[in-house]
Amino acid sequence: MRQEHSDTIRPIHFADGRLQLLDQRRLPRETLWQSYDAAPAVAEAIRAMVVRGAPAIGITAGFGVVLACQNALGQADWRERIAADIETLRAARPTAVNLFWALDRMQGVMSGCTDAESALAAAEGSARAMLEADIAGNRRLGALGAERIAAGSGVLTHCNTGSLATGGYGTALGVIRAAWDAGRIREVFADETRPWLQGSRLTAWELVHDGIPVQLLCEGAAASLLRSGRVGWVIVGADRIAANGDTANKIGTYGLALLARAHGVRFMVAAPVATIDFAMTDGTGIPIEQRGEEEVLELGGTRVAAAGAHAFNPAFDVTPANLIDAIVTERGVVEAPTRERLATLREA
Ligand code: MRU
Repeated sequence: MRQEHSDTIRPIHFADGRLQLLDQRRLPRETLWQSYDAAPAVAEAIRAMVVRGAPAIGITAGFGVVLACQNALGQADWRERIAADIETLRAARPTAVNLFWALDRMQGVMSGCTDAESALAAAEGSARAMLEADIAGNRRLGALGAERIAAGSGVLTHCNTGSLATGGYGTALGVIRAAWDAGRIREVFADETRPWLQGSRLTAWELVHDGIPVQLLCEGAAASLLRSGRVGWVIVGADRIAANGDTANKIGTYGLALLARAHGVRFMVAAPVATIDFAMTDGTGIPIEQRGEEEVLELGGTRVAAAGAHAFNPAFDVTPANLIDAIVTERGVVEAPTRERLATLREA
């Protein structure tokens, strides 16, 4: 049995009326915390990717609403002020449904409040509960996913889906943590994840931090890795899963799913039920964020592309459900997802 991982990384803290976020733009070179006391600044932090990853975005927005309530105390138009801040938070990023799920939930718990004080108390309780429930859910889905992995397997993951992308522990990386601790995984591969390098900057930092050896590869190396037989499962997270199982995740995920199918490698999506958008019929309707050209044209702030070149930079793609072998959630595992099978995860 390998040593229990440390699982000490927690990127979101709320104390003394301030939200603290571990700045993911600066990792791994620097561990820098940013501090927030107003919702519009939190929205900007989400947009600029101080914090990123679908569950982490949702939780952060929840605390953004707490700040909105704090700043509305003593104001006659407190309700309108909070509503305006919630709209600002909603506009931060379009693809991860957890953002909208969290904000709807916050609005729900505050709906019966008759003053700003009670709205603040309800909002803070709800945001803290969301954070704790996310970590507990990740541990559950991690264990469920790990059971699917045959002893001695290699795994390949994409983007960062770990503690940094959630309240803690992670989704796809939670499965990998749990399987590693159970001694099932022989080796872990992580895509560097161009252009923002979530894999080489964040996933590698997290895994090294928790004592799990990792080999990074550029996405172009995935086909030959999957053909080599060293990988049993590709394990990824999700930003939005449509009701039929089509899954939006970091750009490059769709290509990995095609490669996995072509080489007989299994493909797992690990995500909380909050990432399933039951109102979205299929993946064609999922809004895909387009990010700035500089992310592709520059490296570390220095232009590397030829002058005059432009960039195509969608941040996400959609993997059709028929390429997914299992969707692993805290409420259970759905194999070969279909609309009917996914509906069994819906809250009663
Ligand atoms: O642009 P990002 O870094 O926010 O994209 C993150 C991803 O695509 C993750 O795979 C997804 O949000 C799941 S995180 C548990």
